[in-house]
Amino acid sequence: MPTPALDALVAEIERCRAEAIVALQAAADEQAVEELRVAFLGARSGRLKSVQKLLGALVAADPPAAGRHFNDLKTAITRALETAQHRVAGQAVQAQAIDVTLPGTAVPTGHVHPITQTIRQVQEIMARLGFASVDGPEVEDQWHNFDALAIGREHPARDPLDNFYLAVARGADPLLLRSQTSTVQIRVMEQRQPPLRVVSLGRVYRPDTADATHYPMFHQVEGLLVEPGTTMAHLKSVLRFLASSFLGGDVQVRFRPSFFPFTEPSVEVDMEWGGRWVEMGGAGMVDPAVLAAVGYDPQRVSGFAFGLGVERIAARRYGVSDIRDFYRNDVRFLQQF
Ligand code: PHE
Repeated sequence: MPTPALDALVAEIERCRAEAIVALQAAADEQAVEELRVAFLGARSGRLKSVQKLLGALVAADPPAAGRHFNDLKTAITRALETAQHRVAGQAVQAQAIDVTLPGTAVPTGHVHPITQTIRQVQEIMARLGFASVDGPEVEDQWHNFDALAIGREHPARDPLDNFYLAVARGADPLLLRSQTSTVQIRVMEQRQPPLRVVSLGRVYRPDTADATHYPMFHQVEGLLVEPGTTMAHLKSVLRFLASSFLGGDVQVRFRPSFFPFTEPSVEVDMEWGGRWVEMGGAGMVDPAVLAAVGYDPQRVSGFAFGLGVERIAARRYGVSDIRDFYRNDVRFLQQF
């Protein structure tokens, strides 16, 4: 026979079951589910414990019914708990995995080529000394590639076998792929007045057969400084700063006498790094005749210029012994940098 006390107990059990199920379904994560487990099934102060205490008083009236209701409640809450535990565990795994419903596609994008990295670092180092980065065209006229640099009409540097001349109409002066970035020196001096500190990094072209140290296209870093009182000592200091900053450590710079038509005196630049001297390029004081040709007063200002091989300094720094590796586009090689 149902009694009022048993009815009250059954009502309490139903309330408890409904609350537990709603709460467990709403629980957002593992911690919330665990808190609900303690709140309902906890051995000391869980809701089921207090229901069980009410039960004690009613066992006398109808033991089987009381026990059945209580066991049903426990089973229902336990099942809801397990469902919730399973659900939040799955959500945690999903949160770490790729959500394929998100817009966009993650593509492995690669990274900047080591030569471009070198160019940017050299620009950054030279900027610290006040050298602004400038650029010039790769297809040049003979004025900027030769004449303005005092490379005369009969100079062997103009030999068609040593340059990439472009086909032009009969009678016109052929253009060419620039053979040196010294062209940019002229272009800058034609347009600006001293004081001048510029650096230009870019491609140059010479019909050399590709081998470990030659390539028909390579990059040069051209520096130009024109200010009153400039000397070879300034040139050497700037080159030493550039080399030490880029290669790391205290790099020694050595000058050997040389000749370029647009510098006087002219030198070959060697750098010592890791106990080995490597030739890096040419340099010198800008010839007063070149300064005069662009309208500067050689009595008032003097300047230095240098042109170094970008591949050479990159190869030195990265321990690359064959410059062709930079242009083979072998991803396994490029991935290292
Ligand atoms: N342009 C020269 C070369 O390509 C290098 C150089 C630059 C020399 C500037 C002197 C001054 O060999």
